[in-house]
Amino acid sequence: MKVGVVGAGSIGLLFAAYLSRRFNVTVYTRTEAQASEINKFGILLKNSGRTISFVTALPFSEWQGMEDLSIITVKQYQLDDIIGRILQMPAEPENLLFLQNGMGHLEKLQSLAVPNLFVGTIEHGALRENSYTVSHNGFGVTNIAVFRGDSNQLFRFISSAPEEFPFVFKERYEDMLLNKLIANAVINPLTAILKVENGDLIENPYYLKVLDSLFTEIAAVLELDNAQSDLERVINICRTTAENRSSMLKDLEANRLTEIDAILGYILAKANKQDRKVPLLESLYYIIKGKENGGREVVK
Ligand code: PAF
Repeated sequence: MKVGVVGAGSIGLLFAAYLSRRFNVTVYTRTEAQASEINKFGILLKNSGRTISFVTALPFSEWQGMEDLSIITVKQYQLDDIIGRILQMPAEPENLLFLQNGMGHLEKLQSLAVPNLFVGTIEHGALRENSYTVSHNGFGVTNIAVFRGDSNQLFRFISSAPEEFPFVFKERYEDMLLNKLIANAVINPLTAILKVENGDLIENPYYLKVLDSLFTEIAAVLELDNAQSDLERVINICRTTAENRSSMLKDLEANRLTEIDAILGYILAKANKQDRKVPLLESLYYIIKGKENGGREVVK
């Protein structure tokens, strides 16, 4: 089976490295320089040991979506380029798997004619060290569900994936994405602003109070039926990933854009539609927006 991995950030490199153990993988990079480094050095994967995986790397401009399955690993805010590109292809790809945080991308996916669309959530922790090196520092699973179409190719993929890099099929994409959204919405902005590891949010009783207040606002907007168990799940994620630095904290530290629009921005838009006040959530949203790009507002 041929697999295309679109995007070569931490997640793209991680997926390409593991999947190349079982599939014929081509990774598509933003720059030609990154593609040539990967072709030259392979992908260096650091976990309990170090392995080098040789995959084909090509610049994104050469992506035609011809593989049996293409996995889109770029961040939410880079999706418009990908979707624009797909719409220009002479024939749209057959099978696409989208791995973005948040739920904002679902509406965008509607514009595609791709017959089989899958979505997923990632529980791995990964850090890109340079253009061809990734460190796998949190072992988890990737959940995947059908958003539209036929699941045959997805099952073929899941059953052939390497055991040490598992994929779990979920019946309902809505629940899967909602669960991830809730965790991201509570953990990511707080850890990014407080500059703490995930576990600090529950170990420090004052931070825990803020976590609780934020969760209460989120639960009201998302009209959660089982708010108490959702809160417990978030607390449990903080416990099991206690030493992790959230993706939003890492993005801010690296002066990158964050996924705040897809996460809190998405919930804030819902709150506005409901005419509901969410003062804590709104403030956190603006604080993160203010901190993006190293605190420099982009003037166009
Ligand atoms: O985005 C992240 O960092 C993770 O998904 C999680 C578990 C919510 C926080 O580390």
